[in-house]
Amino acid sequence: MPESRCLQGIWSSPWIFIFAASGSAVGLGNIWKFPYLIGENGGGAFLVIYCACLLLVGLPILMAEVALGRTVRSNPIDTINDLSERRVISSFWVVVPWIAGLAGFLILTFYSVIAGWSIAYFERAVSGKLVGITQVQATGMFNHLLASPGEMLLWHSIFMALVVLTVGQSVTRGLAALVRILLPVLIVVMVLLAGYSLKTGDAADAIHFLFRWSWQDVSFDVVLAAVGHALFSLSIGMGAMFAYGAYMSKRMSIARACSAVVTVDLVVSLLACLVIFPLAFAFHINLDSGPSLAFVSLPIIFGNLPAGQLVGGFFFLLLVIAALTSSISMLELFVAWLHEKFYIARFKAALLLGGAAWFIGIAVLLSFNHWDVKVLFDLNLFELLDKLTSLIMLPVGAILLSVLVAWFIPKTMLQNEMITRQTSHFRLWYNTLKYISIPALVVITLAGWIGV
Ligand code: PFF
Repeated sequence: MPESRCLQGIWSSPWIFIFAASGSAVGLGNIWKFPYLIGENGGGAFLVIYCACLLLVGLPILMAEVALGRTVRSNPIDTINDLSERRVISSFWVVVPWIAGLAGFLILTFYSVIAGWSIAYFERAVSGKLVGITQVQATGMFNHLLASPGEMLLWHSIFMALVVLTVGQSVTRGLAALVRILLPVLIVVMVLLAGYSLKTGDAADAIHFLFRWSWQDVSFDVVLAAVGHALFSLSIGMGAMFAYGAYMSKRMSIARACSAVVTVDLVVSLLACLVIFPLAFAFHINLDSGPSLAFVSLPIIFGNLPAGQLVGGFFFLLLVIAALTSSISMLELFVAWLHEKFYIARFKAALLLGGAAWFIGIAVLLSFNHWDVKVLFDLNLFELLDKLTSLIMLPVGAILLSVLVAWFIPKTMLQNEMITRQTSHFRLWYNTLKYISIPALVVITLAGWIGV
């Protein structure tokens, strides 16, 4: 299909896909969620299982999503409708992009609330409120934020407005330029912070915890959490990478581009642990304290760092931008579809969807205070949406999308797309997807649900 067919445009250089996809992958999932998942799931064992999931499940499925997007050069909903109308695939598959898009939309409802916390901490850092902060004060500050729905609403609204304004533009223009600067700067700042934290905190315990292996820590729950997070962190299973693949130049190798995205994503996650864990050990912060972990540890670092006001402000600003470049991809599937199918202006489509996500986000932020009630399965709304998307919708979306690619899309169509010079590379990917990634994901997901 010619590149000019893509209504949303093409990334201006082949490399930009790597930056944009990494921008989607790197976000709160790496810096806020990954450290507390490691903390809750026993350290090194989770890390090893997570790396295996990235390599054997994440990477092949990421390549499948991107390849499908680039083959058809259109949004996932129209693509699947079209393939089904042409009887290439059955009409059953029409539901798949809807499940995928809905997962992205639901993630945005709580992601925006957490991104709002990052804006709150940006404000606290630059206004000097973190200077000299102790562990007790940092915990108190976070609890105070959670108990203030009005303040959380303000930050959540600001973040969602930024999302709508950015998605309203064409993603192939502004986004790429932003991520090209953001990512290298974020990595450099995190390396420096990790150095500081390892030097001043308890490096030995942190490294031991992060890299220790114990069979006792391995269970199906842990494996399900690892695979769910691998999908979340790589933004797969929800059509975001499908949509970005549609804007990718034919000159770029999908295997190389996707490997680069997985590497960047893992590096940022590991750096986040090296920033947070040494200080968490030194200050006796509970590693299994869940979502509060990063927002209690990081302020202590900045509060005690020379020029911490500036560095802390800068870091939280980077975190907000990283969350923004991830959130954009959550809405891209539906925004591109509304634009291509009904000619609705991108801005209007973004406003409609962002407005709906903002509204549900209000209920999410209330679930941290006035409305902290168990909605279903002993979980409050935030916990329910987090688990529903990571442990059910993303695995289901990823399984269906990859089954579609591996078993139903004609092999020759994919072969042309992969443009790898060696057919052995294509075969390796295709067979891994078919016989390892999909069966593994099905077994892990089912076993995790049944609670084996
Ligand atoms: N990968 C993002 C992160 O780790 O923060 C989260 C994410 C982005 C999830 C895009 C879903 C999505 F469509």
